[in-house]
Amino acid sequence: MHTTVSVIKADIGSLAGHVKVPEELLKLCEGSLSRALKKGVIKDFRVTSCGDDTELIMSHGRGVDNSAVHEMAWNTFKTAADLAKKRHYYAAGQDLLVEAFTGTIRGMGPGIAEFEFEERPSEPIVVFACDKTSPSAFNLPIFRIFADPFNSAGLIIDPKLHPGFKFEVHDVQKAKRVFLSCPEELYDLIALIGMSSRYVIKRVFRKDGEIAAVVSTERLSQVAGRYVGKDDPVAIVRTQSGFMATGEVLEAFSMPQLVPGWMRGSHRGPLTPVAQRDAHPTRFDGPPRVIALGFQVSDGKLLGPADLFDDVAFDDSRRKAMEISDYMRRHGPFEPHLLSPEELEYTTLPQVIERLKKRFEPVKG
Ligand code: 13P
Ligand code: 13P
Ligand code: MG
Ligand code: MG
Repeated sequence: MHTTVSVIKADIGSLAGHVKVPEELLKLCEGSLSRALKKGVIKDFRVTSCGDDTELIMSHGRGVDNSAVHEMAWNTFKTAADLAKKRHYYAAGQDLLVEAFTGTIRGMGPGIAEFEFEERPSEPIVVFACDKTSPSAFNLPIFRIFADPFNSAGLIIDPKLHPGFKFEVHDVQKAKRVFLSCPEELYDLIALIGMSSRYVIKRVFRKDGEIAAVVSTERLSQVAGRYVGKDDPVAIVRTQSGFMATGEVLEAFSMPQLVPGWMRGSHRGPLTPVAQRDAHPTRFDGPPRVIALGFQVSDGKLLGPADLFDDVAFDDSRRKAMEISDYMRRHGPFEPHLLSPEELEYTTLPQVIERLKKRFEPVKG
């Protein structure tokens, strides 16, 4: 059976600043998706949130980039944003940047991760959602999962995984892409994706062409042309039986790597793996969070979720992330806590620098 899983997300408004999605907005989204399910637009759904971002997790048989699914998601967000505006929730409609739907939700503000596959006899997937960071946050963990044998034992032990994987990498500045095969082109892959502010992993495929993972790479600032919030990303990863084990996929998030985002989208901080109930960034609007929800896709339906970071096994990662947060915060407004000038291009800082421009004079001698 051919099934499509679409995860479409947007910041439609939040409570007490950029902290959490109000219950009534989540309820409204659930109602809207229930009606779409009854009409046969989708087969199943879950609504969740990570910080101030609302995620619509949907299964259907319509393939990727389906305009009926995208339009329904867009209208769901629009209606929820209208309620958010009426209630004066914070940053109501933040990520809905275009007025009229034009056939695809791509380029309108929301982030999208979706893939289509022939269901295996048992089809486990993990849906990741982040807050207070950008799509580049997935470069390191996705690389570790699919190309690093020190993370994923299956690359060595499992003959089905031994051939490795193919990575689709996007140059987000030039809107170009390249496919690189691992392990053959491992060093070329790292040469690009190590520069994560420019090159981001979009998809990963098995060598036989089967899709293994997809990441939302929409850049909010490029759509808006100004800073409106961070493009807090989502990703979907297929696991087990010919793919990586769920535990290998989660292992890659045990190291709280430094990612861009956090306060005003302008600071580096540790990506902290948390249970969904703890995905409410507070301190300095952070630190950045990631949640992981595990599902079985079963005849087009979604069974679950299991809240995968809701485990004592990630307590030390969280503790380490809090230590790193203290250390980074002590840099205050200095790099490397503050992002580099190129990364700050779409924040409000250039307006401050602009005001000083006239006072600059040539250096003599
Ligand atoms: P305001 O100027 O609306 O407070 O926005 C700043 C911001 O969003 C950082 O949290
Ligand atoms: P979000 O991107 O999560 O809306 O956060 C914006 C921000 O400025 C936080 O300080
Ligand atoms: Mg927000
Ligand atoms: Mg957010």
